[in-house]
Amino acid sequence: MQFNKVCILGLGYIGLPTASIFASCGLDVMGVDTNPDVISILRNGGIHISEPGLRDLVHKAVDSGRLRVSGTPEAADAFIIAVPTPFLEDNQGSYKGQSYRLADMRAVKSAAESIVPHLRKDNLVVLESTSPPQTTLNLVQPILEKSGLKAGTDFYLAYSPERVLPGQIIRELTENARVIGGIDKRSAEAGRDLYAHFVKGEIVMTDATTAEMVKLMENTYRDINIAIANSFSKLAVRFGIDIWEAIRIANRHPRVKILNPGPGVGGHCISVDPWFFVEAAPDLTELISAARQVNDQQPHFVFNLVKQLFSNDLTGKNIVALGLAFKPDVDDLRESPAIEVAKLLSKDGAIVRAYEPNKNDAHVAGVISAPTLEEAVKDAELLLLLVGHRELKELDPTKLLDLTPARLAVDTVGGWDRQSWSEAGFKLIRLGVGNSHQIK
Ligand SMILES: NC(=O)c1ccc[n+]([C@@H]2O[C@H](COP(=O)([O-])OP(=O)(O)OC[C@H]3O[C@@H](n4cnc5c(N)ncnc54)[C@H](O)[C@@H]3O)[C@@H](O)[C@H]2O)c1
Repeated sequence: MQFNKVCILGLGYIGLPTASIFASCGLDVMGVDTNPDVISILRNGGIHISEPGLRDLVHKAVDSGRLRVSGTPEAADAFIIAVPTPFLEDNQGSYKGQSYRLADMRAVKSAAESIVPHLRKDNLVVLESTSPPQTTLNLVQPILEKSGLKAGTDFYLAYSPERVLPGQIIRELTENARVIGGIDKRSAEAGRDLYAHFVKGEIVMTDATTAEMVKLMENTYRDINIAIANSFSKLAVRFGIDIWEAIRIANRHPRVKILNPGPGVGGHCISVDPWFFVEAAPDLTELISAARQVNDQQPHFVFNLVKQLFSNDLTGKNIVALGLAFKPDVDDLRESPAIEVAKLLSKDGAIVRAYEPNKNDAHVAGVISAPTLEEAVKDAELLLLLVGHRELKELDPTKLLDLTPARLAVDTVGGWDRQSWSEAGFKLIRLGVGNSHQIK
């Protein structure tokens, strides 16, 4: 199938790079976003997203005249929906007394509705937003058919999940294998022809619901595996061993690959997507729901660990939270467990000051923060490592001795070497390590 013009709805981390790459392949692209600030920033030559290589790509696309932006869609050969699918903040579901989060599909609905007046015969519509199973068939298709056109007969409809890694989006967009799930074979083929403009990885065709499930299964698989590691870390404390050593040894088994425990699971994908399964089938998802709860409890586990170090009274204790992002070496704070730990500590009376190397504001997501490490640690009683940022893992404990009065440190990510911290004079407590293995 031949495509000359694509309309992309949602110009965020996914939509903007996708729009720019299509434009760089010679297609005429209309990028649509309902946030007027996004449109005005892009029209004024800026970008609102921090992603390596993106600024250049967007500028080239705009300068070539092939990428235009607007607040509303217009007629095109293909439409791509890449709008957010977070969960609802103020509403939860419940099954057998266990609560679960609900997907907020309002942006997908309104994006599909905004396409209706522009939909023409032989158009292709692709949903890229991570969505609960059967969203393409049960939510998007009926909305699009309000146009009077029939999916599969008059227009093509497909689901194609995005699996890029923030920080590597541009390379992964082109190199990753891409799944295209059509509501029928011709829709999958139309999707393949569209993405073949820039995808160098394998293009795998399937049906729409399989493609939706593939995306959710990938993130649920990781969530459950992190939950196992977090459970093991608690067992390690109970039985007085060092979880990091135990995982290293277990992983020498050729078919075992245990992930690392930590202060919890964050970000807008792994901590969100498994709930889409739970909401869609609460009676079949005990394991998925339990894993989510294990990971959501982990910030409380870290909070209790720290509290015990101060004889259960945190009042007035000076604690430095090292790292606030949801994972190492990014500045993304969405659903970050580190932020939750910091907030739990300060709510309980501790004086918490954070240092997030990738942000230097005075407040980062409501946590009082210092612009430099020196400033952050100068009055500290406890150094609390919450994110394995390279800069924080590589801290030299002997140099820290002059910067801080703290001689107590807690490592929740397996980032600090117990020997060198202990030799420098710190009492280092590591998550998942029983008392007999903590060097005093
Ligand atoms: N960011 C990632 O790394 C990543 C990876 C895989 C999948 N995803 C999924 O891709 C989807 C998009 O994520 P993102 O990170 O790009 O989101 P984002 O929040 O960065 O951007 C989404 C944009 O859509 C705009 N928008 C909202 N409603 C709209 C509408 N009706 N019409 C047009 N624009 C609208 C918003 O203003 C926003 O600018 C989500 O479902 C997400 O789960 C994201």
